[in-house]
Amino acid sequence: MPDSPKLTIPQITELARGGKRLAMVTAYDASSARLADAAGVDMILVGDSAAMTILGHDSTLPVTMDEMLMLTRAVTRVVRRALVVADMPFGAYQPGEDEALRNAIRFVKDAGADAVKLEGAGRTLTRISAILDAGIPVMGHTGMTPQSASLAGGYKARGRTAADARRIFDEARALERTGCFAVVLEAIPAAVAAHITDALKVPTIGIGAGSACDGQVLVWHDLLGLTTGHVPRFVKRYADLNQAILDALTAYIADVRASAFPDESHTYAMPAEELARFEAQLADARPVRDPMDPSRTR
Ligand code: KIV
Repeated sequence: MPDSPKLTIPQITELARGGKRLAMVTAYDASSARLADAAGVDMILVGDSAAMTILGHDSTLPVTMDEMLMLTRAVTRVVRRALVVADMPFGAYQPGEDEALRNAIRFVKDAGADAVKLEGAGRTLTRISAILDAGIPVMGHTGMTPQSASLAGGYKARGRTAADARRIFDEARALERTGCFAVVLEAIPAAVAAHITDALKVPTIGIGAGSACDGQVLVWHDLLGLTTGHVPRFVKRYADLNQAILDALTAYIADVRASAFPDESHTYAMPAEELARFEAQLADARPVRDPMDPSRTR
């Protein structure tokens, strides 16, 4: 996979139209991005979930543009095939179209992102239009939108009443009409996501939205078992890296305490005659006690 050419937006659309399910995952640094790309994911999201997974905040709100740019650069430096989507953080597009465009350009121009993602519809639609006018592809995001979660009652599933399902359906269609090349559907009933997927020509990317979506996205740390505490019901863990890392670190500590690491295979040798010469020099240079004050050396 690493030698395959970069995926383009039309290719992503074509893959979905041809019935291939799109696989997307978040990544926030070079090593995870390299692995995701090598495994063959179609899209990598440098998500604002980095606020929690990488920076230790308890919501996505505090992460800044500068922090997101740094993480995005680390990802784009190594990704060869997957389409890289940068998540516009809270505050980067809400103030208005100019601010949204300026920040989207920073993601593409300074950090090498292929596209950006914004949450919500409503006023976000004018920001999306401004960004699209500059030729930057935009991924939409509706359903549960973490940046406005507190206003809407927390990190709970959305679209569980007919009225709310209709609102999300209309938002998804508005995002498509505005020009988004794909729409993330987060934490909504599978049946609602299926209707939206049916109604849209652009691919839907589900997270907690059932299997009818054209693709799926998961957060790196959730997928690999690197998160602790509450795990949303829509997460499937494909590994338990928390335990694997704890086991490795515990073994390392034990080795260090027991002087079992490093052994000869981890150390550098030097020619015996050079070592002898060095030790002879040390003997000459060894400090001698000051006869006037034996507690001191000179
Ligand atoms: O930031 C993120 O990880 C996301 C996904 C949950 C879609 O927006």
